[in-house]
Amino acid sequence: MKNKFEQLDSILIANQQYWRYSPFYESSLDTVPSWHSANPSLQSWLCNLSLQEVNELRQDNKHLADEVTLFLPELQKIQKLIEIPESEEADIALPKGFDSGIPGRKLDQILSMSQSVLNQSMSEEWLEWCSGKGYLGRILAYSSERKVTSLEYQTCLCKSGQVEADKLGLPMHFVQGDAFADEVADVFNKNQHAVALHACGDLHVRLLQIGSGKHLPAMSVAPCCYHLVKAPMYEPLSKSGMKSKLCLTKDELRIPLQELVTGGARVQRHREQEMTYRLGLDSMLRSSAENDTYIPIPSIKKSLLSNGFEWFCQWAADQKQLYLPSKDFEQFNEIGKKRFEKMEKLSLIQDLFKRPLEMWLIYDKSLFLKEKGYKVNVSTFCDRSVSPRNILIQASLTV
Ligand SMILES: C[S@@+](CC[C@H](N)C(=O)[O-])C[C@H]1O[C@@H](n2cnc3c(N)ncnc32)[C@H](O)[C@@H]1O
Repeated sequence: MKNKFEQLDSILIANQQYWRYSPFYESSLDTVPSWHSANPSLQSWLCNLSLQEVNELRQDNKHLADEVTLFLPELQKIQKLIEIPESEEADIALPKGFDSGIPGRKLDQILSMSQSVLNQSMSEEWLEWCSGKGYLGRILAYSSERKVTSLEYQTCLCKSGQVEADKLGLPMHFVQGDAFADEVADVFNKNQHAVALHACGDLHVRLLQIGSGKHLPAMSVAPCCYHLVKAPMYEPLSKSGMKSKLCLTKDELRIPLQELVTGGARVQRHREQEMTYRLGLDSMLRSSAENDTYIPIPSIKKSLLSNGFEWFCQWAADQKQLYLPSKDFEQFNEIGKKRFEKMEKLSLIQDLFKRPLEMWLIYDKSLFLKEKGYKVNVSTFCDRSVSPRNILIQASLTV
């Protein structure tokens, strides 16, 4: 794993001009991507794509990777470095009514994660870290008949989780507490297998640090929201991560989370319209000598987009007390359309680096656990369509 991490690290650094930008901000019509002179054939391939081809490529990552690899051969190496085993199909039968109140996609995630975790666990108890209402803990308590301690900050979630667990007669105990408080150390004991489903940024890091410090026999963590950290830059955990020259800002920690817009034709159309309007308005505002920065505009109800670009500009001006420096709405709407197309094309290239960046973060956390004496497996636990944050780090103490 160390070797894979180091290779991935070098490739990400060597190719940072391909992922280190925000397509939205870089979409102005007179700029070219920083990699343009290094890779003019990639640039002309992108320019010649139609918007429909861009959409098709965005829905088919494998096809996109195959196409872009022709211009960027290192992508092929990256694909090998980030390959991880896939989850098994979940095979947990729940009694009737057991899943009441658990949203459908959440149920799929917790069944899949439970399956992966139960296959590995020998521990006597579970610690469910940042449990929410304890959906995962509920299934683990039921399937393993072992005690679950669920730590959660929000009192209302603890209360409703406890009520549900008691109703089902499960050996679950909720503890209301702050993962960052010193007293949280009291919820740990050496018989626990800790599980964390989608504990954000610093929250999952905190578990890895306390859990390894307390020599928990096992930990299973599905990280998410890498950017929700207190420090302004990513703070690597492993020795290899600390040696790396790859410094990620909070904004860059969001890159792996910027997912494809799925949803039907209507959702896609609204997105295209909204982004076109925002980019067109941005160009209009910047056409005034007094403004050369992006002015954030509040979110808007999608149904209002049908009022058209001019209406959108007037609405935004009212919201933010802005002066509109032009009346030529048609011209700026056209500019918005062109910028949208450019943004979509540039995003294709960044898309190919999202998973590699995420795997860099995952390997860093996994190597940290190895350094602490754990045997570590990394796999997916569910399909990406169920949750894009589908990577599971499973660690068990070897000594
Ligand atoms: C994304 S949710 C995941 C919940 C649950 N594991 C699940 O997948 O359904 C993150 C949870 O962490 C809890 N949380 C946030 N900050 C916390 C803190 N400082 N200490 C404990 N829990 C916290 C939130 O209240 C929330 O329930």
